[in-house]
Amino acid sequence: MADRKATLQIDGQSIELPVLSGTAGYDVIDVRTLGKHGYFTFDPGFLATGSCESKITYIDGEKGILLHRGYPIDQLATQADYLEVCYMLLHGEAPTAEQYDNFKSTITKHTMVHQGLHNFFNGFRRDAHPMAMLCAVTGALSSFYHDDLDIHDEKQRLRSAYRLIAKMPTIAAMAYKFSIGQPFVYPKNDLSYSENFLNMMFSVPAEDYKVNPIIAKAMDRIFTLHADHEQNASTSTVRLAGSSGANPYACIAAGVASLWGPAHGGANEACLRMLKQIGSVDNIPKYIEKAKDKNDPFRLMGFGHRVYKNFDPRATVMRESAHEVLKELKIQDPLLDVAMELERIALEDEYFVEKKLYPNVDFYSGIILKAIGIPTNMFTVIFALSRTVGWISHWHEMMGEANQKIGRPRQLYTGEAQREFTPIKR
Ligand code: SDX
Repeated sequence: MADRKATLQIDGQSIELPVLSGTAGYDVIDVRTLGKHGYFTFDPGFLATGSCESKITYIDGEKGILLHRGYPIDQLATQADYLEVCYMLLHGEAPTAEQYDNFKSTITKHTMVHQGLHNFFNGFRRDAHPMAMLCAVTGALSSFYHDDLDIHDEKQRLRSAYRLIAKMPTIAAMAYKFSIGQPFVYPKNDLSYSENFLNMMFSVPAEDYKVNPIIAKAMDRIFTLHADHEQNASTSTVRLAGSSGANPYACIAAGVASLWGPAHGGANEACLRMLKQIGSVDNIPKYIEKAKDKNDPFRLMGFGHRVYKNFDPRATVMRESAHEVLKELKIQDPLLDVAMELERIALEDEYFVEKKLYPNVDFYSGIILKAIGIPTNMFTVIFALSRTVGWISHWHEMMGEANQKIGRPRQLYTGEAQREFTPIKR
């Protein structure tokens, strides 16, 4: 849509700003020239700000649509596997059978980490949160690879992307093994991506771990449902870090740190802890009231979303999987009963209806992860592992742009006007 303009009338000035349209979604007003007219935009929390142009993922919050490279998430979660989704997020198109086989072989061959990385874990206390370990060790990957990486060379960028996608499950499993005092388990090249992760998590020297195909399938689906989500807080963190030219391992460590917050990726762990705190269906009304009380910081973890204002399509798929996994594993989890009743009540409560607070991706993931045998403090680690492909795909897309600029937001300054300094009198 060429030459559409928005006109800003302010202080006697008439400022014309280009209006840009994408394939789908909101048009944007290009405000890059606003500074020369003496104004900045002001949008803390980026409620209405597009930070970049991207071709990777599209979300329609009103219609509950999530597309990766144009493909609906429910189709990918049920008809593709995680590595297929990784390939398309990185390369733009779904792989052919040959491309998939080559990609899978490349990822498999990068799953082992440098033996020196094992030593990093010895510096942690046994009770260190696995996210603390993941954040630190992911950044430490820089010490092994950052000097053989030209971030302006696409081939070298892709090699670092393959290394990260391949090694995050290994590092995640190492963090778990370290926290329970068991020996690290090396990756096995004859296992699929999710089988390999489960084996590294649960195998012990005394006996081989038998991967349950139902659990492996559920794990793979969890990875897919968390793979990417447009410009969320952690992806925006990775982009901002990458805009300075930082190496991709440092950028992904920044993404891990940002994801850890309970308002973001930490919500799955917080949601399960909340369900345990609620304990029974009878206690739900009390917690609903707490969540509505403006003076109470308590929020229903797993509910609400900045973008989705009707439903999170991932939660819909996750809900089905939760029932599938619990049924096939013959697990009766009272927390699922609490979750289902909490969802029913919340979706009928006028506060939640008015605020458009629906279950998000984190609401059911904890139920499935618990059924699989993943400990609560590993939930966000799984989210980070899954989201690494999204983070690195956005980093790769940004680094491939011509005239890529460092991200440098401005501000509304409300501090002291200039004043003279008076040194301390002794
Ligand atoms: C993820 O961005 C992404 O794409 C993230 C993610 C991804 O894949 O990367 O989808 C993953 O982070 C999902 C979200 C997980 N977080 C949680 O489940 C934590 C609980 N949810 C909230 O903290 C909150 O809903 C957010 C952070 C998710 C969204 O917050 P917003 O958009 O900034 O909305 P808000 O905080 O301004 O809330 C709007 C209103 C407020 O009331 P008022 O001030 O208008 O009176 O809704 C209320 C809030 O108090 N509200 C809630 C609530 N969430 C919002 N009240 C009770 N319980 C909640 N969960």
